[in-house]
Amino acid sequence: MQTAFPKKLSACWHPVGYSHEIKSGSPYGTFLLNEAIVIWRTSDGGIYAMKDLCIHRGTALSLGWIKDDCLVCPYHAWRFDRNGDCVLIPQAPEIKIPDTAKTPVYHCKERYGLVWVALKDPLIKLPEIPEFENADWKLVNTGPFEWNSDSSRQVENFTDFGHFPWVHPGLLGDPKRPEVPDCKVTIKDAVLHYSVVRPEAANPDDFPIFANEDLVKPERRSVYKLHLPYTIVLRLGWGGEEGMLYFFTSQPISRNKCRGYCIIGRNYNLDDPDTVLQDFEQVIFDQDKRIVESQRPEQVPFDFTEELHLKFDTVAMNYRRAMKKHKLDY
Ligand code: FES
Ligand SMILES: [Fe+2]
Repeated sequence: MQTAFPKKLSACWHPVGYSHEIKSGSPYGTFLLNEAIVIWRTSDGGIYAMKDLCIHRGTALSLGWIKDDCLVCPYHAWRFDRNGDCVLIPQAPEIKIPDTAKTPVYHCKERYGLVWVALKDPLIKLPEIPEFENADWKLVNTGPFEWNSDSSRQVENFTDFGHFPWVHPGLLGDPKRPEVPDCKVTIKDAVLHYSVVRPEAANPDDFPIFANEDLVKPERRSVYKLHLPYTIVLRLGWGGEEGMLYFFTSQPISRNKCRGYCIIGRNYNLDDPDTVLQDFEQVIFDQDKRIVESQRPEQVPFDFTEELHLKFDTVAMNYRRAMKKHKLDY
């Protein structure tokens, strides 16, 4: 049984696909917060999101096609314009089209190579990422990562330091160094700020992706901003000019299904093929997926008494607290 999401989640921007996945000329169907939606493009470059359901007989409009900048239903070819209004009924072209012949339209925009949708007027802005608008930085799209879990579990996994040595040994952690460094979380508006400094480990042999060759200091600083509800911006630095940025965001498809997008920016190793990072993240996310898909319930329990929290779980505790405060919990 699907339980409803809190209403306020509908008033947030959520990713629904990488821009390149939504091709001009072919409608793209997906789900957001249990709602079937269709995304499509007009010839002037506009991008639109609508309810993926034809008012005539309930057919998925995403199975249709695009004609004269309208979305055409695959069943009887009724045409809907960018405002969601039906503008042509081929079976009866002479009748006045009923005012009710329309499909709801949602907020839709593109940023950072992703398509974003808000089902209601958005209350929270997207994060600003100056590095992504700086020509010295190269961006690589990794994933997407489809998991049978709620977005809250996928996001919380990204905040969890304690699992690195056990789930990603040799890649992100070392079982000989299982302690989690202290970390203080501050919350401003709908953003959690925290950072950790750890002694730098060697690059994994198979994936030489970190800029730690000529270290100023043998440590890695990770500065996180977690933007409620499901976006994390992580900046990695080694004390020099080299920087790496992870932009992770999760699409809440349903209460037990999500799709993560991870865009990685960096200002070094610019000639490396994208596959180095893509292959590395596929390994990491697959290691996490197995664990997170086993968690019950599939959603983060926002009631503190339902799980056991220790000091090193401070980011997760603050995430749960902040989600509750902003009425994004369930
Ligand atoms: S079901 Fe869409 S036009 Fe008939
Ligand atoms: Fe992990």
